[in-house]
Amino acid sequence: MPDFIWQQGVPIANTLCVSASAQRLLVLHHPMRALRDPEVRTFLMDPVTEVLGSGSNVLLLSDELPRVAQIQAKGWWALQRDTRVWITAEVGLWLDTLVRETASRGWYGLERLAEIPGTCGAAPMQNVGAYGLQLSERVTGVTVWDRQTGQVSRWSSTECGFAYRDSRFKQEEPRWLILAVHLLLSTQRPKDWPPVDYPGVRPIAEARAAARGDALSALTPLDMVEIITQVRRKKLPDWRSPPPGSAGSFFQNPVVPAEKAAALQAQFPELPQYPTDAPDQIKLSAGWLIERCGWRGYRSGDAGVFDAHALVLVNHGQATGAALWALAQRIQQDVQARFGVWLIPEPRQLSGR
Ligand code: EPU
Repeated sequence: MPDFIWQQGVPIANTLCVSASAQRLLVLHHPMRALRDPEVRTFLMDPVTEVLGSGSNVLLLSDELPRVAQIQAKGWWALQRDTRVWITAEVGLWLDTLVRETASRGWYGLERLAEIPGTCGAAPMQNVGAYGLQLSERVTGVTVWDRQTGQVSRWSSTECGFAYRDSRFKQEEPRWLILAVHLLLSTQRPKDWPPVDYPGVRPIAEARAAARGDALSALTPLDMVEIITQVRRKKLPDWRSPPPGSAGSFFQNPVVPAEKAAALQAQFPELPQYPTDAPDQIKLSAGWLIERCGWRGYRSGDAGVFDAHALVLVNHGQATGAALWALAQRIQQDVQARFGVWLIPEPRQLSGR
């Protein structure tokens, strides 16, 4: 396998299944060796070059991007000391693969991130999270290459600036090329095991344990992966078999000042509200706001809103990025007009700068 290859006019993989191609694509199989090549360095140092993973969090607004780079290195390593398991994952590895591989070895820590589409390299960008766990809670560090200076460094989790669906990588886009993600898992059952408090998880977990005549606490990490898979499949499109294509949640759950949340609660007592780390900030359910505006199951041509979850925009076949974006904007305006809340999209919009 060569360290890197160049390709011309290649379709860009993306889970929303929008049709677009890269005029020039650089595929890195061995990034550390490839980064010694002057042409590779120049290509990556050009801010026009878009670095993409599996395209699970992008909305392609143009049918062609001039320059795209993709890291395909998919290795991972574990070092076990006592009950602690230190993991290093290369960025081209699917996060879901890492979740399943580690859970099947009986290691606790990543189960709730099962079924999230995308690579290990893309995951820290927006600090993916589900069922009460954010990736940042397991990350000990991230190895990055500075696209301005060409230097490699390893950041601690604190230096990564993680927050809800946010990180320093996202804030300082396109400066940092993520090369590896470092995580800490455990062979020991956590005190609060199993993590079933998120709505909808407990009944499925109880049924699984009961079917085996086991206590809930006897569930293994792999059981939890399968439980989460079952919960997600009920509400979210399966990214392995489009159509429909999707990018998971299309909008972030909006975080609003506590006074605004209180005013909304007085008017709409059923609107789900969640505390955040800041006492004066409350997170609202974007799915509820969008559903209340009547968008769940809406379809215009091939662009639509998933019928089982209003937070998910879907491509039923041939929708363009522009059509999906037009729909997203209509939803934003509607939610703003009805509730006075502005929804922020999750996927990065790429328009071929
Ligand atoms: N709801 C509705 N209608 C809908 C969808 C949701 O009323 O069509 C309300 C319901 O009350 C429901 C609540 O919203 O109980 C929460 O819904 P859900 O449990 O599906 O979670 P979410 O807040 O919509 C977040 C993440 C998901 C993650 C789930 C589970 C964001 C933006 N999304 O969704 O992440 O899987 O929690 O942890 O934070 C993703 O980011 O791509 C993603 C799928």
